[in-house]
Amino acid sequence: MSRKILVTNALPYANGDIHLGHLVGYIQADIWVRFQRMRGNTVHYVCADDTHGTPVMLRAEKEGITPEQLIDRVHGEHLRDFTEFGVAFDHYHSTHSTENRAYAEDFYAKLKAADFIDTRAIEQYYDPVKNMFLPDRFIKGECPKCGAADQYGDNCEVCGAAYAPTELKNPYSAVSGAKPELRSSEHYFFRLSDERSVAFLREWTRGTNAAGQRRLQAEAANKMKEWLGEEGENKLSDWDISRDAPYFGFEIPGAPGKYFYVWLDAPIGYLASFRHYAEKRGDVAVDDYTDATRAAAAATEMVHFIGKDILYFHALFWPAMLQFAGYRTPTQLCVNGFLTVDGAKMSKSRGTFITARSYVEQKLDPEWLRYYFASKSNGTMEDVDLSLDDLIAKVNSDLVGKYVNIASRCAGFIAKRFGGKLGASDPRATGEFETAYEAAIIARAYEERDYGRALREIMRLADLANQYVNDHKPWELAKQEGGEEHLHTVCSTALTLFRDLTLYLKPVLPALAAKVEDFLAIEALTWNAGWHPLPAGHTIRDYRHLMTRVERKQIDALLEANRESLAPAESAKTAAPHSQQRHAEKQQHAAQSSETASAHISIDDFAKVDLRIARIVDAQHVEGADKLIRLQLDIGETDEAGNPKPRQVFAGIKSAYDPAALVGRLTVMVANLAPRKMKFGLSEGMVLAASDPDGQTGGLYILSPDAGAEPGMRVK
Ligand code: 2FM
Ligand code: ZN
Repeated sequence: MSRKILVTNALPYANGDIHLGHLVGYIQADIWVRFQRMRGNTVHYVCADDTHGTPVMLRAEKEGITPEQLIDRVHGEHLRDFTEFGVAFDHYHSTHSTENRAYAEDFYAKLKAADFIDTRAIEQYYDPVKNMFLPDRFIKGECPKCGAADQYGDNCEVCGAAYAPTELKNPYSAVSGAKPELRSSEHYFFRLSDERSVAFLREWTRGTNAAGQRRLQAEAANKMKEWLGEEGENKLSDWDISRDAPYFGFEIPGAPGKYFYVWLDAPIGYLASFRHYAEKRGDVAVDDYTDATRAAAAATEMVHFIGKDILYFHALFWPAMLQFAGYRTPTQLCVNGFLTVDGAKMSKSRGTFITARSYVEQKLDPEWLRYYFASKSNGTMEDVDLSLDDLIAKVNSDLVGKYVNIASRCAGFIAKRFGGKLGASDPRATGEFETAYEAAIIARAYEERDYGRALREIMRLADLANQYVNDHKPWELAKQEGGEEHLHTVCSTALTLFRDLTLYLKPVLPALAAKVEDFLAIEALTWNAGWHPLPAGHTIRDYRHLMTRVERKQIDALLEANRESLAPAESAKTAAPHSQQRHAEKQQHAAQSSETASAHISIDDFAKVDLRIARIVDAQHVEGADKLIRLQLDIGETDEAGNPKPRQVFAGIKSAYDPAALVGRLTVMVANLAPRKMKFGLSEGMVLAASDPDGQTGGLYILSPDAGAEPGMRVK
């Protein structure tokens, strides 16, 4: 039965550029949407700009324009950036819209009627010059712990301490420079700590979706346990949902001078965008997707793609708001990690804080990035590393070298020798590509958002297709007397295989797939059409160049275009950063201070190294290498069929160990090191070994765990 799914991406703030950190989550969602549609499911895919809040207000003021003018301009920029990267929303709305106001007021009225709204007075810093209450990040002062100057109101970027803004020494307003005063004001709260909400959230955490998948990824479910505490415990606090004027947002009905906090109406913006789009279309029943009772009856789904830093909002406040205002709750949260570039946080000084715009302006192909991000996505909340050399290698070897190569080697013969008409395909060669089994393996990986797994499987098929071409050598057949018919079959078969690969790659590479559909003169590829080779007699069009190779110099130019001098511009600090940007900036400051202040790394830095207990299942000398031993390391990983799949690692330990003596023992490996192509093969990690500081005098000692440790256990 076909599914009906409303899919959303997190709404980017309306005062910053889209950068590659954002694109991880948008591309992941877009791939999923395209895949679901190719399967015949109905998907509505919406997003919007997140327009409200103090930072937008102040930014507009600084530019000398109204907030409305600012958000209009940014709306156009954001939509253009997403479109360039193939992220194809059905509708891109704004939280500053009539639909959103109506929804926000409706939520508020219903939550109030259900006794979920409270008011109480709170004390906050007030800027007596600007006449406004100051959000934490607009208050600065000296760190109460280490005394560092110019620290923000919530945490110190030098020593890492967290505190309340009232603890800062010599506080000042980052807006006017004035000394802030403490003032009291009445705020509105959503009673998240209510017993009903705690009980509901415990239940909600456990849910599954229509495909039988868990509502929350394992890591997200763990976070929920941490936030909700043990059964019987109540660790939740009420949520402050109001802000005082001046504020850019929606005024709370019946509360003059009080506005809904930006985070209240942001997720409501998902529904507003969907309603606007559905009403424009006229044939989508909005309530079937939004009303609790109707959604259950219609078996619709609502899936949110978000970054991990906004999980709290989407896993606690949002479902609780929906539930107690009578709306349907989310079926699934798909949470992605942060982006690092070459193993480090995005950095403006290194030029790795790369905007979507600059990428397009430097004429890099957006589908390179889609392919690369997909290859690094595994459906978990782990951070994604963009290794620039690895991107070049993957695109050039997988897409250009393997996939496109199949068509480029065969298309010319069809055009020149057979007038563009295909012959019969060889069913023995197309067999493996077109079995329901193969399609199901790839489909399952897409469904689980383990795009890396899908692509590995597709590239295995591409290898088979190339092998087929190599075995039959059309270029030689073309020269042989009487080789004509065989040549026709081989080239036609290869193009059928190419068509199948294109179908599998299409969710990731929609633009490339469209070019191929045009070249092969076929209908838009869908997943369920059944498997038929391209028919004999079918005429294809002339082959056009499909994809170019990435050159290192293009990447260098991109970094150059994004490089900024180190003095962190005040504008960058006062602009409300999107989650990713916020993260990257914080980390950038942390990195700077750790370079200058101390040689310490944070626990988060350490946690990025995935250390695993590994069993050495095989060890061999390497022909032609005087230092290396080739190890096969079992860390509990298996292949599709469930067979153990050890990692190959080349270790420079030959001087100290006899391979035979290593087999069977346990050691520790770094499991998330980017794989490295070596002269002797791929090295997929690193084993740890002790030596004297310069590695000259003493021996070399690999590590062993105490008895009881098992392959795959995490070392931390
Ligand atoms: O963190 C952010 O960038 C927010 N603008 C995300 C909002 S997502 C949704 F709730 F609107
Ligand atoms: Zn400090």
